[in-house]
Amino acid sequence: MVKIEVLKNGPLYITGDIEIVDAQENPIPLRTPGKAVLCRCGRSKDKPFCDGSHKQTGWSDEG
Ligand code: FES
Repeated sequence: MVKIEVLKNGPLYITGDIEIVDAQENPIPLRTPGKAVLCRCGRSKDKPFCDGSHKQTGWSDEG
């Protein structure tokens, strides 16, 4: 089972048997097997992963 959780004012928290690939279908290694925290705000300097920039910039998913 794969679970995708949309964190309020933050990233997507994904757990399960997942694989992330780039636009050319090349695998992007997970930092932790079975878990990925993906940027939703577009401000991460480590895309596709969240680097916490959403907090520093005050990004909000409301409105
Ligand atoms: S959601 Fe965390 S840096 Fe974008």
